[in-house]
Amino acid sequence: MDIRIRSFKEYEQKYAQSVDEPDSFWNEVAQQYIWRKPYEKVCQWEFETPDVQWFLGGKMNITENCLDRHLAARGNKTALVWEPNDPRVGAVKLTYRELHEKVCQLANALKSQGVVKGDRVIIYMPMVPELTIAVLACARIGAVHSVVFAGFSANALSDRINDASATMVITADGLNRGAKQVPLKRVVDEALESCTTIQKVIVFDCVGWKPELHAGRDIWWHDAIDGMALSCEAEEMDSEDMLFILYTSGSTGKPKGVVHTCGGYMVYAGYSFQNVFQIEENDVYWCTADIGWITGHTYIVYGPLLSGTTTVMFEGVPTFPDAGRFWQVCDKHGVTVFYTAPTAIRALMACGLDHVLPYNLHSLRLLGTVGEPINDEAWRWYYLHIGKEKCPIVDTWWQTETGGIMISGLGGLSPMNPAHAGFPLPGIQPVLLDQEGKEITSNEVEGYLCIKYPWPSMIRTTYGDHERCKHTYFSHYHNHYFTGDGAKRDENGLYRIIGRVDDVINVSGHRFGTAEIEEAINANKYVVESAVVGYPHDVKGQGIYAFVICDSMPEDAAIRRDEIIETVVEQIGRIAKPEKIQFVTGLPKTRSGKIMRRILRKVAEGDASNLGDISTLLDPDVVADIVKGAQ
Ligand code: WT7
Repeated sequence: MDIRIRSFKEYEQKYAQSVDEPDSFWNEVAQQYIWRKPYEKVCQWEFETPDVQWFLGGKMNITENCLDRHLAARGNKTALVWEPNDPRVGAVKLTYRELHEKVCQLANALKSQGVVKGDRVIIYMPMVPELTIAVLACARIGAVHSVVFAGFSANALSDRINDASATMVITADGLNRGAKQVPLKRVVDEALESCTTIQKVIVFDCVGWKPELHAGRDIWWHDAIDGMALSCEAEEMDSEDMLFILYTSGSTGKPKGVVHTCGGYMVYAGYSFQNVFQIEENDVYWCTADIGWITGHTYIVYGPLLSGTTTVMFEGVPTFPDAGRFWQVCDKHGVTVFYTAPTAIRALMACGLDHVLPYNLHSLRLLGTVGEPINDEAWRWYYLHIGKEKCPIVDTWWQTETGGIMISGLGGLSPMNPAHAGFPLPGIQPVLLDQEGKEITSNEVEGYLCIKYPWPSMIRTTYGDHERCKHTYFSHYHNHYFTGDGAKRDENGLYRIIGRVDDVINVSGHRFGTAEIEEAINANKYVVESAVVGYPHDVKGQGIYAFVICDSMPEDAAIRRDEIIETVVEQIGRIAKPEKIQFVTGLPKTRSGKIMRRILRKVAEGDASNLGDISTLLDPDVVADIVKGAQ
């Protein structure tokens, strides 16, 4: 494990090396892994097509590096700690050896169910150890996993299954979430009514319900693994073979399948994990994300396991049975590194210190945040009351498309400034561009955040639609990857992420396209048209504000609002629920028919005093109506 940078001085040296001689830098990093066949070339790239390849010609399997590689020295070390939703249920611990066996066993089961290398497998599961096992079992046999967050609706699930032409779904009968249970299998059944490619469904018995199984299609997990061998030779993968697809929202209605490949993703996941969190052998590391998002992929499953670390996986929610649950779990398992989202911190902060004080939190040494900008107040609360002023905080900026953390402090080594993600990791070359695409080189400036050189875990394509990848990320600025974020560099060169500059809203660290939510709202039979914007929300960071035109003004606005929310829940899921719905008779449009969201954003923020120039609107009068309606 010697790719760890151990001082800020070393960081500066490594950074310089990574820019001057990127191939030799990444070659050193990649050497810690097992390559069945060594790569012939470190990197080949151009951002026009785009065509990016890393570790060309190398053959490997990521699970061999996550599991087999550790068996000799860490076979009896705990790989996975699972903390259930209900604190009265016991935790589960799996050693590296046990996890290896379970992954192999399921891998054999997948094969015997007909899954072969390259097949797409959808994983729609609760946060239980079997989810991690399913992800790794796919990777073991070279099947492409696509985890769909279990909060998504049947509609959203079938869209993803169809886009990926998946042949298998791995799911569970239901899931536990705080005081509630959710019938997952029922959602899968509904989704599959509009899918034709799925041949098999594996169902894990999680909550003890007995859903009906479709003969010939569905099989219980325990029956599928019954009698399967506990070893399974890992499939030999090319560095550039697909490892997984993860769907994320963009500025059009349809979510896109971000594609990550085996070799580069592996190298960057382990490297970034070990350096950002300054991982030591005895760390107990807990990331509270769901494996349905990229954070869970890279920093619950792959990064920690590649590093031989003990990783904690939590089934529940931060506020069940009460708002002290996170801190109770930290004490219970002796968590040393804790990684969560600003929205969770703000929600718990609002519940008061009474839920923190019963716990000593002595084991913690490092804290992290991810998903959205963290405001000063939340940062200070986290630093003071959770870290007791002795734990550094790493504010980690990255994206589904980047595969791993890009801009962040290295735990305890780097200068820290609340609300600033900080410096780029060695190997990452961010730039700020102006409107014209010119690089801004001075400090204390704002610009569009782009990356000008490839890194191993960057997006390779959007599944089934390479044009979309090119168009979204590589055509805004010639020869640059465009992040969609605006950022500011302070006088010391630290980056502060300001937020999205495209039509993407970040609600509690979850990403939605305005068009995606508008399409969902428009699916309601009364709705003629809608426009959605984000507005500042105390806990969620941003909330969803929808301006909606109905065929006639609703008699009972409250009932109509509930109906529209229900439609959004059906179309996408509960996580995309608009916070506010305002019924309007018209939307502010330019003569060419484009909605002027700038105006709607101002109204949603509650600041209608300065709407700017509205003279180019087709019908400037609608603005006054909207402002009046908002009050
Ligand atoms: C967008 C990516 C990558 C993990 C979870 C979200 C925002 C992410 C930060 C941060 C400010 C952040 C950006 C980015 N974001 N981390 N530390 N500070 N903003 O993944 O769904 O792909 O969203 O989240 O706007 O573009 P994602």
